[in-house]
Amino acid sequence: MNAAIRAIVRTAISENLDVYGVYRGYEGLIDGEITKMESHSVSNIIQRGGTILKSARSKRFMTPEGRARAYENLLNNSIDALVVIGGNGTFTGAVEFAREYNDYPVVGLPGTIDNDLYGTDYTIGFDTAVHTVVEAVDKIRDTATSHNRLFFIEVMGRDSGYIALFSGVAAGAEYIIVPETKTYLDNIARLLKYDLRKNKTSGIVIVAEGDDQGGASQIAEKVKERLPEIDTRVTILGHIQRGGTPTPNDRVLAGILGNSSVKALREGHHGVMLGLVDKKVVETTFEDAIRKKKDFYFGLLELARTLAI
Ligand code: F6P
Repeated sequence: MNAAIRAIVRTAISENLDVYGVYRGYEGLIDGEITKMESHSVSNIIQRGGTILKSARSKRFMTPEGRARAYENLLNNSIDALVVIGGNGTFTGAVEFAREYNDYPVVGLPGTIDNDLYGTDYTIGFDTAVHTVVEAVDKIRDTATSHNRLFFIEVMGRDSGYIALFSGVAAGAEYIIVPETKTYLDNIARLLKYDLRKNKTSGIVIVAEGDDQGGASQIAEKVKERLPEIDTRVTILGHIQRGGTPTPNDRVLAGILGNSSVKALREGHHGVMLGLVDKKVVETTFEDAIRKKKDFYFGLLELARTLAI
């Protein structure tokens, strides 16, 4: 997100626009936590995780009173357009806000590690999260192989298996469990048993937290009931996936989209999320970005199984 903020601020300044940062997302907009940004305000942040502007989930912005205060603060600061960075919640708020306040110009950038937004190949933060997961799994594999254990590793993704999918393929997991497919534990137990009997002494199963059979702990328990002879362990990676040095791919994506957001607003476009599809910046209405289901790359699930023999 910092790389995106930097790109927005510096593009705006290069186009002789005044640019303001709003702290804590919609919460700060309601409370008037707004500050003028200069070029140096975004110096030395491109390599930092998190966001210098901080972030918050805002219940108050879901109310008409909250949005009215936000609008007042925008008027008081003579701010006539907004760039919001986030996912479903952020864009839902933006749609409601623009509807109430004469089509107030808002452009969105896809900022979520889950990569679950329609209208962009990748979301800002996804690549970094996958990178972190793969590093962690590589380390866990040392214990798995040395102790002949089967590890169930839980990654984030409440409704989306993208982090599990990409990190599972990249880390050479034996099995990847995602919410996009129904999970049949008997099948998984059978395949794992076969793998472990045939040619393996250890295994890695990546579990997306939002799976229909539960998280890694529940799934490990159920597999253990079917394979009591196997030594299993569970690791939940949690919030390490949401921090750390952003990867070059994420920084480039954030730079392109941050820059394009200022240009889009100047050209009078709004009510859209910007994304990168096949190396081109595309605009998708907030409604579509939220409601349409991004294609899931099912082929990678098969690839993981093929390569895990
Ligand atoms: O929405 C993105 C996400 O990273 C989910 O994958 C995860 O479940 C959630 O955020 C964690 O949110 P919080 O930090 O509020 O617990």
